[in-house]
Order: sequence, then structure tokens, then C-alpha cells
Amino acid sequence: MSATIKTADEIEKMRIAGRLAAEVLEIIEPHVVAGITTLELDRICHDHIVNVQKAIPAPLNYRGFPKSICTSVNQVVCHGIPTEKSLKKGDIVNIDITVIKDGYHGDTSKMFVVGQPSILANRLMDVTQKALWIGIEQVKPGCRLGDIGHAIQTFVEAHHYSVVREYCGHGIGREFHEDPQILHYGTPGTGLVLQPGMCFTIEPMVNAGKQQVKLKPDGWTVVTKDRSLSAQYEHTLLVTDDAYEVLTLRKEETHLIS
Ligand code: MF3
Ligand code: CO
Ligand code: CO
Repeated sequence: MSATIKTADEIEKMRIAGRLAAEVLEIIEPHVVAGITTLELDRICHDHIVNVQKAIPAPLNYRGFPKSICTSVNQVVCHGIPTEKSLKKGDIVNIDITVIKDGYHGDTSKMFVVGQPSILANRLMDVTQKALWIGIEQVKPGCRLGDIGHAIQTFVEAHHYSVVREYCGHGIGREFHEDPQILHYGTPGTGLVLQPGMCFTIEPMVNAGKQQVKLKPDGWTVVTKDRSLSAQYEHTLLVTDDAYEVLTLRKEETHLIS
């Protein structure tokens, strides 16, 4: 398992792609309301990426994925395909955006709530977002991948939720999914040592119930086996000389940077 070190020129392109991906999550927010279909959300994001950003929605036709974004509602863990079904009050939905600009990828996702979430849903989303940020805060040269996974797993399990094992974060750059794999569980002091110039995602999937998942017959949609709710947040990161840069930071998150 290796990781490429990006050049200064590549890092600048990663910053641009990351900012565009984050911007899509910002512009879609007011549209995530009861009655809208996830297909309509896909269309709005697609049009913004293609017409405004002059970028490419990476999921479209990626290994046969049929749409431009992933929309994962309630018990869907990840890779939900946008459909004609409307969102209803109380739904929680992850929207996962990946754009390609000037040959480089930016990949990010967050949870949206339709109306008022249940207390459980609210707590699950909060724990998952905090788990992502606890992982992010480990990132600096010399840190090992096992340190990131361990920090996330420990935090999630302390809240009696479970970490999905089958899907993970990934190196990112010219390719959507590059080495290394970024597991959201692990053993401290093990795994690849981080170096400045590496770019990768952290994207924990957290289930309110058991960790097991199953793949739907469509070949994409991943759901919790026990039908419990699932949440996910994702950022694309750069390892800097002293710590990290969040390439997909949204304006609402500037207070989270340490
Ligand atoms: N965006 C997802 C990730 O974070 C990958 C989606 S693959 C797709 O890695 F084909 F479903 F779009
Ligand atoms: Co990703
Ligand atoms: Co993603």
C-alpha cells in the first residue's frame, strides 16, 4: 500500500476541486426539503457542476454508476442511487459529491435532515460528524493510518454505535480512488506513515445498530442488515508540513479548524 506525494502544482488543483465539491453541498442545502425527490437533487447538483463549475460529476458512469451524486437515505449506508421517491419529514440523507476539475478529484459528503430529526437520528449524525473530525485531527506527518482508524473507532464505539468495515476512505488525486485505503477502525502505531503532500479522504459510515451491511440487487445501494439508521460524513484532506488542510471545508465549518 503506497501513496503518491502531490507536487505543489497538483496540490493547487486539488484545492480547486475540493472547493468546488464543498460548494455543491452548500448550494444544495436549501433544496433538501420534504417532497423533493433525490432525482431532482441529482439534477440540480449535476447542472451546477457541469454548467456553473465547468467540472465533471465523477460518479456518473463510474464503474456503471448511473447518476451524478450519491443520495443515501435513512438505513442506506452509502452509494444510494437517486430515485423518483420523495423525501419526507424526519428523513436523514447523506449527499456525496465528487467533482473532477482540471483532472483532479474533490470528494465530500454530509448529512441533511428533512424537517425535524428524531433524537436518535440527531445523535447519530452528531457522533458521526465528530468521529470524522477526530480522525482529521490525527492527521500530520509521522502519524500512521492505524492511529486515524483507532481514534474514529474508539469514539464511535464509546457511543455504542458501530463502524462499517466494508467501505473505507481512499487516496485521491487524478484517480477517484487511489491507494492507500483509509480504514475507520484499527490499531494505533500500525499502517502507513503520513508524509506531507499526501491526499486522501476520511469518510466514516456509522450505524445506529450493528456493523453488518448488505448490498441491494441494484449492485450499488448498501443498507444496514438490521435496518438501523446509518450516517456518513466525508472530507478530502492534504497532509501539510505540520498537520492537515481540509480541501473540502464548507463555510459553516470554519470554526472547526484547530
Ligand atoms: N463518493 C464515494 C466515495 O466517497 C464513491 C461513490 S462511487 C459511485 O468514495 F460510483 F457510487 F459514485
Ligand atoms: Co470518498
Ligand atoms: Co464520496
